[in-house]
Amino acid sequence: MKSRASLKSHPLHPILVSFPIAFFVGAFVFDLLSLVFSKPSLQATGYHLVIAGIAGAVLAAVPGFLDFLYTVPPESSAKKRAAQHGLLNSGNLVLFIVIFFLRRNSSLALPVLVVLEAMGVAILSTAGWFGGTLVYRNQIGVDPRYAGAGKWKEEVLEAKGGKVKVARIDELAVNQMKLVHVDGKRIVIARSEKGYAAFSDHCSHRGGSLAGGAMICGTVQCPWHGSQFDVHDGSVKAGPAKTGIETFSVEEKDGAVYLQV
Ligand code: FES
Repeated sequence: MKSRASLKSHPLHPILVSFPIAFFVGAFVFDLLSLVFSKPSLQATGYHLVIAGIAGAVLAAVPGFLDFLYTVPPESSAKKRAAQHGLLNSGNLVLFIVIFFLRRNSSLALPVLVVLEAMGVAILSTAGWFGGTLVYRNQIGVDPRYAGAGKWKEEVLEAKGGKVKVARIDELAVNQMKLVHVDGKRIVIARSEKGYAAFSDHCSHRGGSLAGGAMICGTVQCPWHGSQFDVHDGSVKAGPAKTGIETFSVEEKDGAVYLQV
């Protein structure tokens, strides 16, 4: 599903992570070469790459944290994976900050420094593996377009008295969806040939975001493992999901669509 921290549908976090990866790995490589070839001058490059890596990691963490909060579906397998990804990267950042201070005080022997940096690179690689799964399998930050999907629509709303206006009657085309956040609940507003429908964004299989999936002929398909649900009554049309999804009543009145929560 589309990242809120993006520029014209291009998520920022995957672009920015290239910098800390390159700088931290570069620091390790220069210090290792310094150790192997007994060239102390190479350590100066390593030292500056550590500083650049820390700055890059802090910069990349900002959109990453926003994605964790707002893009990764709550109570899903991806949320756990994203938490592990974030914790590993935070641990790595702390490790390189410690390395920086120890280097600045010249209190670290080169072999110890190389071992610590190798540990950092190993942590970074593991975190990167999780990050790859989040993007390429869980499609975090991906903004897919099936026929008739239109542009990604997302809105934060407040329900007063249990009823809330969620769309203009002509806002969505047939087969188009919109994700609304109503009092902390993620609800998908969809328009099928039969009219408007509202259902939980949470796939009953492993918590994939249905708003990030595809909808056609009154059926929504989860982007993660392909479960299909009827958008009007929430029943399962195809597995692996075994239980249906929660649906909500909608009312079309005076040119607007109202959701009852
Ligand atoms: S999370 Fe597996 S099909 Fe939706």
